[in-house]
Order: sequence, then structure tokens, then C-alpha cells
Amino acid sequence: MGTMKNYKRILVTSALPYANGPIHLGHLAGAYLPADIYVRYQRLKKRDVVYICGSDEHGVPITIAAEKKGVSPQQIVDQFHARNKAAFAKFGMSFDYYGRTSSPMHHQTSQEMFINLNDKGVFIKKTEQQLYDAKARMFLPDRYVKGECPHCGFPEAYGDQCEKCGSSLSPTELINPISALTGDKPQQKETEHWYIPLGALQKQVEEWLATRQGWKPNVMGQVKSWLNEGLADRAVTRDLNWGVQVPLPHAEGKVLYVWFDAPIGYISATKEWAMEKGNPELWKTYWQNDDTRLVHFIGKDNIVFHCIMFPAMLIAHGNYVLPDNVPANEFLNLEGNKLSTSRNYAVWLEDYAEKFDIDPLRYYLAAIAPETKDSDFVWQEYLTRNNSELADILGNFTNRTLAFAKNQFTGTVPARGDLDELDREMLSTIARAPDEIGAAIENFEFRKALVLFMNVARAANKYFNDQEPWRTVKQNPAKCATTLNICLHACNALALLMAPVLPFSAAKAWAMMGHATDVHQQAWDDVRHMELPTGHQLGRVEILFRKMEEKEIEPEIERLKNIQAQPDNKPVVAEPTASISIDELAKVQLRVAKIVAAEKVEKADKLLKMDIQMGDEQRQIVAGIALHYSPEALIGKKIIVVANLQPAKIRGIESNGMLLAAQDDQGNLSLLGLDKDVNDGASVR
Ligand code: MF3
Ligand code: ZN
Repeated sequence: MGTMKNYKRILVTSALPYANGPIHLGHLAGAYLPADIYVRYQRLKKRDVVYICGSDEHGVPITIAAEKKGVSPQQIVDQFHARNKAAFAKFGMSFDYYGRTSSPMHHQTSQEMFINLNDKGVFIKKTEQQLYDAKARMFLPDRYVKGECPHCGFPEAYGDQCEKCGSSLSPTELINPISALTGDKPQQKETEHWYIPLGALQKQVEEWLATRQGWKPNVMGQVKSWLNEGLADRAVTRDLNWGVQVPLPHAEGKVLYVWFDAPIGYISATKEWAMEKGNPELWKTYWQNDDTRLVHFIGKDNIVFHCIMFPAMLIAHGNYVLPDNVPANEFLNLEGNKLSTSRNYAVWLEDYAEKFDIDPLRYYLAAIAPETKDSDFVWQEYLTRNNSELADILGNFTNRTLAFAKNQFTGTVPARGDLDELDREMLSTIARAPDEIGAAIENFEFRKALVLFMNVARAANKYFNDQEPWRTVKQNPAKCATTLNICLHACNALALLMAPVLPFSAAKAWAMMGHATDVHQQAWDDVRHMELPTGHQLGRVEILFRKMEEKEIEPEIERLKNIQAQPDNKPVVAEPTASISIDELAKVQLRVAKIVAAEKVEKADKLLKMDIQMGDEQRQIVAGIALHYSPEALIGKKIIVVANLQPAKIRGIESNGMLLAAQDDQGNLSLLGLDKDVNDGASVR
């Protein structure tokens, strides 16, 4: 499957997550879980495989996050590097090495790549006008500028990308740009940068891509469309003081563009891994050898960098392997909506791990992996799949088999006698499973692999039912022994077959089978002929998968609903922004208002329509607080409203002002009120 070439070793990478925030389920489903399943499977196949990941610690989002919090970028990345590394470990991500791009080895490796390409004359140096913030005394690359998108008119587009229409932009293309630092209108100032001439490298990239086989259509499709548009030269340097220094004289204040250095992080992390192994040259075997199958697991927003830009760099260098495949995933939605970090509309790994078991999540995420199109995480479905598949099929089969063996055969494996048709069918289902499931995994069809796997458990459960060992134990003990022998054989096989997707449960099931060895050290192909000797002593019977109750997931669903209930989908977690002047503040008129009437808005379960009194004046406002306050409870309450907000129509109902409310990231919401009584109409300063 995949490429026909016979590789000697496999190098797997997962996109290096930015170390400016925690990891959520969308990340996990896109770039990490599939890679981990793939790698665990390859290890069981006894292949030489190395799995590399780490923190992406440069780039403007990190410096902006640091400025907002009033700390240094290093403090931000130190914090999230540690947190993300720990969170990944909890979810069983079995990286061989988790590096970070602020490490000296990474800086050195990136600089060497830059020098190598520079010496070869690959780069083009261009002098150009760039946006400059005079107050902050710095250039404004990428997200340091906001403005109107020239393509779709979205007013909040960033200097590198419009998040509305997805176009990639350069800061000078923005209409009415403003500095994200000071809010000022930037000036233009001359500066010098190094460009990688992707236009000139396009032909070589195309020739290489033409040799790729087995790529997902969604990935190749996106790549082809970039190529059809014709590749533009890309600046690989920035005027910033956070990042890898441009290693040339007279390049003070210039660093490598984050998308130039980050993928090199795969190489530098492999070097650090090799050093840790006591064999510093070992990285070359993986990176500078045609016998290596390099596979990048990423989300679809990273396709251009992994399929065009990084390969172009490697081609220009000339001494590196290129990816054999880039099985990029589409996006994961959550309860029907896009995930949003700023609105806290996500499920964070750290939070999940405090409340729930890991394997059911791995199972559900693999089952709904966004392989060919976006998919949707639904808590209710997660619960259903846990209960009706993991618990009722796989867990139930394992537990009833082991319990039966314990009660009727003193917890040992009974002898296998003559086989009937059903016995033979069951044995052949098990024998076929490793190749069938394996082929799906090799082909990056994780959903299919999971269905095939669960079908084996389903067949085994049915086999138990059909053979009725509880009946034959009296009438035909030899047949009962054979049935149990085969059921135990199936349990044993399932324990190993589940190891890539359900590593924690596999270890538990393997111990329950009475093995003192590590299931993750076994050989996948042994499933075909693995036998449990007659008389083998089985282990302690434990529940493999716990059934979950609705009430465990209700708070999760509620929290997400509350966030969705926010009017205009505004960020619910206050995002500190650039400071404003006293004059700007004075423009906002806040007043005390008394609610005199309130009612629900029909067909909008989140909205309330209210009449408010402000001195002599009565007005109508609409607010998304219906899930938090009943209309009756509001009558007579005094609240604070923004009185001079432009009137707006919400669901066709006029709203003349906005009430103030506080909401935390748990979704708790409280209206702002008064501490002592003050007449309505009073102004708030
Ligand atoms: N940090 C990037 C992101 O989260 C991914 C970087 S992948 C690498 O989108 F190859 F550049 F490392
Ligand atoms: Zn746009």
C-alpha cells in the first residue's frame, strides 16, 4: 500500500504546535492521534521507525501573546512547551523525541540551512517598503498589522492572512492597516529581506510531486491549486527580535521567518534524539538517506508549507529526503460549530484528562477522523460509541470470556478439541485481521481500520452467543472447552490488535490475559498464529471499559452551549488588547438602566428582549442571556448598559444599547449591577 518503494526505515513527524496556547481535540484529531496510531502500528510491525514532534516557539502570535500578558516570549513558550508535552504524554502520544525550536541545536541547524542556501545563491535579496510603527519603533510583519482584506473586505484581516476568506496576504496589501501594537496607522519604511524563489523552484517541486503515489486527493488537490496559480517568491526573513537570527553580518534585528525555521525543527529534534541515544550521527541515517520513508502528519492549513515550501528548501539544499506522504487531515468541528481558541469554544486536553478516560476519546476521535472532509465531535456520540462499542462489544466480550474461564475452568485456558464450522470461521477472521487492519493503517485510513477492528470484536461476541458455552458446559464439556479456548484466543488477539488505537486498554487487557510482558513490545504479525497454551493461567478480571452516564457529559455540553449563546459570538474571555487613550474611553457612554419588562424571543432560545428605563428615556434592548436569566427574575434589576452603541437588529428585533455582563471560561455569566442603589439614568465613569 502507499508507495511501492521498499523503505528501510520510517521517519514520522507531527506538526510542531505553537507554544502559545494549550492543545485541544482539533489538534489531536488532525496531526497527532493518526500519527501515533501509525507509529505504534509500525513498531508492532517491527519496523525501524522514529516519531518526532516538538514545540514551535517562534512567530508573531507568540510575541503578541507575550506582549498581551506582559511577559517575555521565552516565558510563554517555556510554560506551554512543558504543558503541551505533558498533555500529549497523558494521551499516549508516543513521540521518540519532543523538541523545541528555541533550543540551541535548532538555532544552529536552521542557521546552517540558511547559510547553505545563501551560499548556493538560492535566495533573492529584495529591498522593499514595509509597514513600520514609529511609536513602537518596529516593523510590523504578519499579525502585527490588521486591516481590511483586499479580497473579501473583512475588516479584521491580519497582515499574513485573512481568516474570513483564507487568502494569504502580505501586510502592505491590507486596506487601512493599523498596528496591532499601538493602534496607530503605520508608516512605510524601507527594509531588506531574503526571499526563497518558489517561482524558480516550482518546476523541481512539480517533478518531485509527480513521483508521489498514494497521496490523499484532498492534499494533492490543494497542492495542485497552489501550483496552478503559480508559486510566488516568499520572504524567509522578518524584522523581529524573537526568532532565529539571520546568520549574516549586518543583519541585526532580522530573524528567520517562522515557517522557514519551524519545519527544520523536525531535523534539529532528530539530531537531539540521536545525541540522547549516544549516537550523534544517527540523524543522518534518517534524513540524508533515500531508504527513509518520511511522513508528515498535519492539519490542512499546513499543506502548502509541508508539500511545497519545505520540500523546495530541501530540494534546493540537495542532501535531504523528501516526504513520501503528507496525509493531511481536514478540520474537526465541535457540536456543530468551528472550534475557537479565543472564545474558548474547544475541549482542551488538560481539562478532558481530569474528568474522563483517555482511550474512549482516542477511539471516538479515530472513528470520526476528518480524513476526507471536516467532521464533528458530538459529546452524545462520544458517549454512545463508548457505551455501545467499547463497553458493550469489546469490553463485554473480553469480560464475559474471562469471567467464564475463571468460573468454569479455574482461570486457565481449556484445551481446543474438534472444530466445527463456526470455530473455523472465527479462527480465520482472527487470522485475517492483522493484515486487513494493517493495510488500512498503512494507507492512512484510520476510520476504516477501526471499523475492521471492531468487526472482529463483534464477530467474537456473536461467536460466544452462537456457541452458547453456558449450555454446552453441562451437555458437551469438550465443545465448551473448545469454544472458550477460541474465545480466549480472540481476546488475546484483540488485546494486541487494539494496541495502536487503545494503548492503555491494550496493556490492561494483555495483563488480564495473564501475560507479564508488554503488549507494545509484541509482534503484530504474531496475531496470525499466536497460541495460548492449554493450562495457561489467566490474569485478574477487571472491567476494561466503563459505561458512561449522561450526567458526566451534560456539563460539557452546557458549557459549549453557553459560549454559543453569546451575542455576536464575541470572545467570552476578555482579550487584553492594545491600550486606549482617555479620549477613546470617553467615547463610550455607560449608564445605569432599570429593566422594566423582559420576554423571550421566539425561536431564539438564547435571546431576551427587554425594555429598560434610563431616567426619562425608555428603550428596547436584546441580549443573549436567556440561558442564564429567566425574564421574571430580571424585572426591576438595575444593570449597566452601553448607551451610545449604534442601534442594531438582532434576529430582526431592534436593540438600542448593550448590557454589560461578565462571563468566565466555564460559561458562568453575571450581569453587572450596582453595589448601592443609584437612580436609573445615572452615568457610569
Ligand atoms: N506551528 C504550526 C501550526 O500550529 C505548525 C508548524 S509545523 C512545522 O500551524 F513543520 F513547521 F514545524
Ligand atoms: Zn478576506
